[in-house]
Amino acid sequence: MAKLTIEGGHQLSGEIKISGAKNSAVALLPAAILAKEKSTIFNVPEIRDIEYLIDIMNLLDCKVTHKNDALIIDNTNLQNKPIPEELSVQMRASYYFMGALLAKFGRVEMSFPGGCNIGARPIDIHIKGFEELGAHVEIIKNRYIITANKLVGKRIYFDFPSVGATINIMLAATGAYGTTIIENAATEPEIVNVASFLINMGIEVRGAGTKKIEIVGTKETKNGIVEVFPDRIETGTFVIMGALIGKDLRIKGIIKEHNEALFMKLDEIGVKYQIDEDVMTISKCENLKATNIKTLVFPGFPTDLQQPITTLLTQADGKSIIEETIYENRFKNTYDLNRMGAQTNILTLNKLEIKGPRKLVGAKVIATDLRGGASLLIAGLIAEGTTEIENSEYIQRGYSNLVTKLTNVGAKIEITE
Ligand code: EPU
Repeated sequence: MAKLTIEGGHQLSGEIKISGAKNSAVALLPAAILAKEKSTIFNVPEIRDIEYLIDIMNLLDCKVTHKNDALIIDNTNLQNKPIPEELSVQMRASYYFMGALLAKFGRVEMSFPGGCNIGARPIDIHIKGFEELGAHVEIIKNRYIITANKLVGKRIYFDFPSVGATINIMLAATGAYGTTIIENAATEPEIVNVASFLINMGIEVRGAGTKKIEIVGTKETKNGIVEVFPDRIETGTFVIMGALIGKDLRIKGIIKEHNEALFMKLDEIGVKYQIDEDVMTISKCENLKATNIKTLVFPGFPTDLQQPITTLLTQADGKSIIEETIYENRFKNTYDLNRMGAQTNILTLNKLEIKGPRKLVGAKVIATDLRGGASLLIAGLIAEGTTEIENSEYIQRGYSNLVTKLTNVGAKIEITE
């Protein structure tokens, strides 16, 4: 178990470079097995989920080598093997091997994926999509055995634009005969990142980033090369820190269009910042105003920034309401935020009220999930005194080189195992 210790109140100044997006990278690695032989993925974040995915790829006899921030994946000797539960439960993204292995071999066997405990998180849309492509899905005690003699492209409608299901069905559809059309697809940047990789491998994919995606299946792929987009959630997390305790903090690697909803909300709250090409400069802002936020699928306000922005709103004047529409259980961070001096109140299962501004004081707290942990980390940076965050490995799952990045801009933060 890892613990982060933060001495609050130190200004953040200097430059932070945003790493590659976790939620893109974790899909690009499994997608790499679709390439003819070799793929190169640039700008891969250094996070635990990537290490777990590499463990799965090694199990499948894929050779993965690091070269600076790139991973070179050689699948010449790729074997289809059942993925044991101890590997698949380590993270959510293990489910991308379902789509990729199904396309490549017509069979996959693995357990239900893991991931943060922020709601029920079923995978019924993925499964329905595989079945519509002609796969047979057998579930024995949490183990999924998915087989297909032949996958056939089809027009598929998603009841909800799930990020994971969109990517998984795109991956599976690369191995189908004919064209697959996904209607009501997710439009998150991660989808575009994966599509660009598949296109680079020679697979025809059209419409990624819109609600309708077309994929033409083929076994004739080329070697692939792709760069992971900058992480829009890491970006948002550092921007929030900058608004609370920055002093000309420079955040490099901004793609403005990926964070439009966040920036509009920051404008409402009264946060001032400057963006010059891909660099944002931000300092601590006074007189923050309360606002209401509703999490939505892209391009709406991202659920993954809901918990970090809760901490910002504890410093805003007035009553804010957050409505969480993506997950049923994403307010667990508020228990410890309140122990640090915040005044938040869960009104209904998916509505949170935050009254501010409230002075925060350091405390011993527990990260219950990745973004909830990030919310406590932000609180620790602005609190008076010392904050200790237990279970901080959750946070490191999503933020590459977190302690080094923060230390370099002036935070007093330390990790102990
Ligand atoms: N859903 C279903 N059935 C499905 C799939 C999803 O009911 O078959 C529901 C989920 O239970 C959830 C909602 O739909 O309530 C959204 O799920 P989605 O499939 O869009 O999300 P995901 O693929 O499981 C990814 C990220 C999450 C991020 C969401 C939304 C990865 C590994 N995870 O999850 O990231 O919150 O998209 O953007 O890419 C995080 O980084 O902290 C994180 C949780």
